[in-house]
Amino acid sequence: MTAVHTPTAADSGASASANFRSTTRSSLDVSPERVSTVVTAVLQGVHEAIRVHDVTYPEFQAAKQWLMDLGEGGEWPLFLDVFVEHVVEEVAARTQDGTKGSILGPYYLPDQQRLPSVTTLPARPDEQGDALVFSGQVTDLDGKPLSGAELDIWHADSQGYYSGFAPDIPAGNLRGVVVTDSEGRFEITTVQPAPYQIPHEGPTGQMIDAAGWHPWRPAHLHLIVRAPGHRTITTQLYFAGGEYVDSDVAEAVKPELVLTPAEGRAVYHFVLEAT
Ligand code: DHB
Ligand code: FE
Repeated sequence: MTAVHTPTAADSGASASANFRSTTRSSLDVSPERVSTVVTAVLQGVHEAIRVHDVTYPEFQAAKQWLMDLGEGGEWPLFLDVFVEHVVEEVAARTQDGTKGSILGPYYLPDQQRLPSVTTLPARPDEQGDALVFSGQVTDLDGKPLSGAELDIWHADSQGYYSGFAPDIPAGNLRGVVVTDSEGRFEITTVQPAPYQIPHEGPTGQMIDAAGWHPWRPAHLHLIVRAPGHRTITTQLYFAGGEYVDSDVAEAVKPELVLTPAEGRAVYHFVLEAT
């Protein structure tokens, strides 16, 4: 038996920060007018909260301390993806047709193993959890099958932990890039993920506790679906009747993204918009 370590907020926070830095281009050409408009609006929101709620000096200093801790703990990606990303996605969705999008979250890792249309995700020999067979088809807006489309899929294990962000889980576990067949179809065998708890012993967890909120996201599958000539969709799928589907701390559930599994099988039809 290998020792089981409970992943800590510091582990997942630091790995999420390192992953963000290594995968995301950080320079963006933005005009001074745009910077001024958006930053002014953000600051006005903060100023208004202080005025409306009579925020005191001790509260201001506590907030400053907490923000310093958030940065030192590497938790900015966790915090922003849980509390802010859903609104950025909502704005992006205004111009998107077809399957609804959802947040990317901090745990995507590119360049996973390519897998055929009928496949089993890489898993440990003793991977825990109920079997889940997730199948469906990828088409365009007119229903034309998209052969060779990629479903880049990743999800938490039956304990709610992601490979690459928790000790003792092998690289690539419960991750893969599945390629659709000539009819745009796929069938992926994996295990049912568990609800995910925001790491709670770090600053993000302290804030959730201090506010009396709960730190849970419902169980979900993450997907990025791509096909040449079509707009890539980043989304998540949830499970009807699952815990926290109606109270996701990250507010990233949409009714169109809830699967209704029957006897361990769930079906979904992805629709991509041509570019
Ligand atoms: C976070 C984790 C997730 O699995 C997710 O989908 C969104 C956000 C987080 O810890 O920030
Ligand atoms: Fe997630």
